[in-house]
This record gives sequence, C-alpha cells and structure tokens, in this order.
Amino acid sequence: MRTTIYPGSFDPITKGHLDIIKRAAKLFDKLIVVVLTNPDKEACFTIRERVEFVEKVTKDLENVEVDTFDGLLADYVKIRGAGSIVKGLRALSDFEYEFQMALTNKQINPDMETLFLNTSSEYMYLSSSIVKQVGFFGGDISDFVPEEIIDDITKKIRKVGEQIDNR
Ligand code: COA
Repeated sequence: MRTTIYPGSFDPITKGHLDIIKRAAKLFDKLIVVVLTNPDKEACFTIRERVEFVEKVTKDLENVEVDTFDGLLADYVKIRGAGSIVKGLRALSDFEYEFQMALTNKQINPDMETLFLNTSSEYMYLSSSIVKQVGFFGGDISDFVPEEIIDDITKKIRKVGEQIDNR
C-alpha cells in the first residue's frame, strides 16, 4: 500500500490545503494529514481544534486519515512506514524554505522523499495567517476556508480578539 503524509500546522486549514489533500489523495492509496507544531509560530487554534477542522472537511475522503504528532516530522514518517511527504508550493518564494526543510528531513530520515504539488492558481495568495487576519477584523472568510468550519473559526477568532481588546 502506497502511503504518503501531508504535514502542516493547519492553523487553520484553508481551501488551498484542501485542494492539495484532494489532489494528492488521488495519487496514493492512503494519505495521512498530520497536524504538527511549527515552533516558529504561535498558534491561534489548539491542536485539538485544528485536528477537528481537518477531520470535518475531509470526512468524505475515504483514503484520508487525520493524525497529530508532537515531534519531528521525519520521525513520524518513519513510525508510519510512509515513503514520502507531500507539500504544496504556492510561489517561487516558498521554494528556498521548502528545499531547506526537505534536505533537513532527508538527513534525519534518508528513506523519505519530499514531493511538491503546485498550489492551484486560485489559492496562490492564500495562507492561514490571511484567514486569521481577515477574520480578526470581521471580514468574510468564506472564500478562504471550507464552509463546514467557517462558523467555528469565526467564533474562535472573535473570542481571541475580545481577549486582546480586554488587555
Ligand atoms: N494553500 C494555501 N496556503 C498554504 C498552502 C496551500 N496549498 N500550503 C501552505 N500554505 C500556507 C500555510 O497555511 C502556512 O501559512 P501561515 O504561514 O500563515 O501559517 C504557510 O503556507 C506555510 O506552510 P508550511 O510551510 O506548510 O508551514 P506550516 O507551519 O503549516 O508547517 C511544519 C510546518 C509543521 C510541517 C514544520 O514546522 C514541521 O515539520 N514541524 C515539526 C518539527 C520538524 O520536524 N521540523 C522540521 C525539521 S527542523
């Protein structure tokens, strides 16, 4: 069985991520979306919330599993017996960072490959930070995130906004 892994912090998952998930899932027998910690970023949503969002929007995709891991991606890939990970590239500007990550992961786990899928043109501009920023200022996030999670995300962002206002 050919298994691949789609890693990310998914804070929160966007339509751009979902597009990569759907396209990559067609190429493999099984795709595991793993919600990880990016130590360089302070997350807005808890790991549990982020996992729930990914589960909600992938529930109809039969060969997609959702998981979380508190550690190195390269170790997770080894534990799950996968030969590869998939990453989405939005623009040339993503490349340098992704290349560095791919080489680092390969150094830690020589048996893993990093495969890149181009992001679909309609999501080139998108990022999780954009979703949070637009939501924070009361904007409409329906173009950015799947419908099933819009309310949950909006509520949480408003709550975080109120906490900041009360400081
Ligand atoms: N469509 C829209 N947006 C996309 C996208 C797509 N197809 N692909 C990526 N993005 C966005 C993400 O939302 C993210 O936005 P943000 O910066 O506003 O949060 C941004 O592009 C960068 O995404 P990515 O490069 O996947 O970073 P990430 O923070 O989501 O994930 C981890 C990074 C979690 C995979 C990485 O930190 C990791 O592997 N952590 C575990 C520890 C480890 O092993 N580190 C590596 C060895 S040092």
